[in-house]
Order: sequence, then C-alpha cells, then structure tokens
Amino acid sequence: MSNIAQQISGVAAHIEQAKLILKKNDLGGYTVPTHGLYPFQWNWDSAITALGWMMFDEARAWKEIELLLSGQWDNGMIPHVLFHKDSDTYFPGPDVWGSHLKLKSTSISQPPVLASAIKIMVEQCQDKDLLKQNLAQFLPKLIEYHLWWYRERDPENTGLVVSYHPWESGMDNSPAWDDALAAVPAVTWEYQRRDLNHIDSSQRPKKKEYDRYLYLVEFFKNNQFDSEKIYANCPYKVNDIGIISILHKATKDLLSVCASVNLQDDALDILEQKVKLTESAINQLWCENDQFFYNRDVITKQLCRVKTNGSLLTLFAELADQKQAIALKDLSTSWLSASAYAVSSTHPDSELYEPQRYWRGPVWLHINWMIALGLEAYNYPQLSEKIKNSSLALINKSGYFEYFNADTGEGCGGGDFSWTAAIALYWLL
Ligand code: GLC
Repeated sequence: MSNIAQQISGVAAHIEQAKLILKKNDLGGYTVPTHGLYPFQWNWDSAITALGWMMFDEARAWKEIELLLSGQWDNGMIPHVLFHKDSDTYFPGPDVWGSHLKLKSTSISQPPVLASAIKIMVEQCQDKDLLKQNLAQFLPKLIEYHLWWYRERDPENTGLVVSYHPWESGMDNSPAWDDALAAVPAVTWEYQRRDLNHIDSSQRPKKKEYDRYLYLVEFFKNNQFDSEKIYANCPYKVNDIGIISILHKATKDLLSVCASVNLQDDALDILEQKVKLTESAINQLWCENDQFFYNRDVITKQLCRVKTNGSLLTLFAELADQKQAIALKDLSTSWLSASAYAVSSTHPDSELYEPQRYWRGPVWLHINWMIALGLEAYNYPQLSEKIKNSSLALINKSGYFEYFNADTGEGCGGGDFSWTAAIALYWLL
C-alpha cells in the first residue's frame, strides 16, 4: 500500500473505532464517559459527545441533549452528573449528594459548553425538521440554564461567576485550586473511594483532596441547596477562568442560535447585558506582570498564580484583547514546544506539574479542541492546526483514553472514552 493509502485507511479505522466507542458507551439515549469509572451522564461530557454523535447519527445526537436537559432543576441548573440508573462502581453516589429530585443528580453544575456544542450541531445537521423540533424544546431550557449561572453564581452582578467545587470546574484536581481547597475543612468520617478500583493512584487525586471535596458535597446538602446560604458561607468560592470563558462563549452562541430562529424573549436582553458585563470585568483576572489570566480565590481575593490551560480558554471566548491575545498565542507556542504532544493541563515549567496526575499535567483532547478554536478565532490558523495534529497524534499512539501523559503520550485514566472519541470524530470528519 502507498503511504497515502495507508494514512487514509488509518483514518478510516480511527473513525470506525471512535463510532464503536460511542455505541459501546450508549446506555439508551445517554452516553457514559466510560464504563465502570464514570457510569452516569456527565454534563460537559455529554455536550461534547453529542457533537461526535452528530457526525454520524443526528437523531441520537439530539437525544443525548434531551436526556441531559431532562435533569434540569426547577431553578434552571443543569447538574454535573445525572444518576439515571444505580451503579456501585462510583463514589460519591446520589445518597451522599442528597439531591431530593425524582431524577437523582449532583447539586453543582459543570462548564456550560452545551450551547456552543449546539451551535455547531445547528450548523452541521442535515435534517432541518428534526432540528426545528429539538430547538423549540431546548432553547427555553438553555436560556434558563444561562440565567441560572448569572443569577445564582453572580448575585452581586460583578460579571464574574463563582464556582463552589473543584468538580464544577471539570478540571477537578488542578493545582489552581490547591490553596482555595486547603482552606476547606476535611470530613472526618470513613469512606471508600471507588476510582482507585479502576485507576492507579498515581493518576488520581490524593486523600487530603477527597476529604475536602466531600466536605463541600455535604455542605451543599446541609444547606438544603439554598443558593443564598451557600453564596454567603461556602468555604470554597473561586472565579474559575475556564468556567467564565466557556460560559461567555456559550452565552454568545446561545444568543446567536436564538437570533437565527427569530426567538423573542426578554431574557435575551439580560443575557446580552451579562456578556458586556463580563467583558468589562475580565481584566480583574489579568496579571500584567505575568501576561496571563489567572483563576481567583474569591474569599482571599488572591489570584491563583499557577499557569493552567483553563486560562487559554479566554481565546475560545474571545475575551482577550489584541495585546493579551498575542501574549497568550506566544505562550501557547512555547507551552506546546515544552510538551511532547498537545497543550498540557499545567504548564511544564510549573513546579506543580505532574505529567500523569489528573489535571496536574496530562493532556485532554477537548480542552485542546477549544484552545485550537480560540486560536483560529484570533487568526492563528497554523498554531491551531499544530494543536489539532499533536492531539490526534496522541490517539494514533495510544488510542482513545480519558487523558494522556503529557511527557510520554501514554494513555491514562479510563479507556474507550467518549469525549476523546467525539473530538476525534469531529476533527476527522
Ligand atoms: C472527571 C473529569 C471531569 C469529567 C468526568 C467524566 O471527573 O475531571 O471533567 O467530566 O471525569 O468524564
């Protein structure tokens, strides 16, 4: 076979494998991230996975979103995990979270990339009748979800929403949260982690972190999920630059989808104002000295000065001005060359960098996808392409893992992972 023919058959095989992974992880309308380790429906995983389904099964793609929205709380929140069916392979389950709803769920959310995924799906789908039916059902719910973020997580109208749990960031064990999390009390009761039954402990968070994750889970339950009480007293409150960026981008995408179907709703004016407010507030997170956007501990008012890739999502959100964008593009270039493959979750020069431990160094494909889109938006197509190719090289080397060791490219965490397959499908198709 010629070299080109080999490459083509390689790509075709990757596409087939990625489709098989989504089908294998399909539990009848929703897709688990991977069996065993994550046996439920996760919020941002599902949004990204729907994009993958969209490449070969439109009806199934919309179904993914329908089921995710079915877990929406009355106040508009879409939870980070929906416990559709019981499973004994995961901890903490619904009993620990204490959610009172019919469909059991966690009581926090996750980065709201959903509306951005939907905007892409709207652009790519062929079946316009199916699209129309689904949008009519989804848009009011999405608007409620975005209003929830701004109302409940920014009650003082600062333009910068707060997050109450490292798990809400989706970047659970990032060193950016270390100081803020250290100030949270630890639980003193015994519990049995299930993640360590599936994955080596060198790739997972430590007990001291888990003790505090669980304290926060109980704190929400003990406060009856009351937004005012939690906002006033939560021992962990962070302006997460990743969430802020993804929310900002998704709100703009939601407004654009609503405009494309001529949807009229007073709530859209509120969302327009929130977009402007965030644009005027974002520089509070910019450190001129380091030429970088940081996360901020809202309680101590200190920036969390660790270089993590969530900050590069300001490019995805187009929140960086031209000067900031140049600084972030230069940094992305050197970040990429300091790594063996794509952009690692923590900068390799950081003393907190660990190439294999969960969010402290490894590479995640969906984050690289968003960074690549951001660089494209700022007109850096070559760098964007480089990030895409170095990400795909990881799949070539190791397959469809949850994340990859940033130094060796070895697959880490769960195998046959849905969002890795979905991003590959999106890129390859
Ligand atoms: C881990 C990740 C989180 C993801 C979940 C399911 O908790 O940190 O971002 O949503 O796994 O894949």
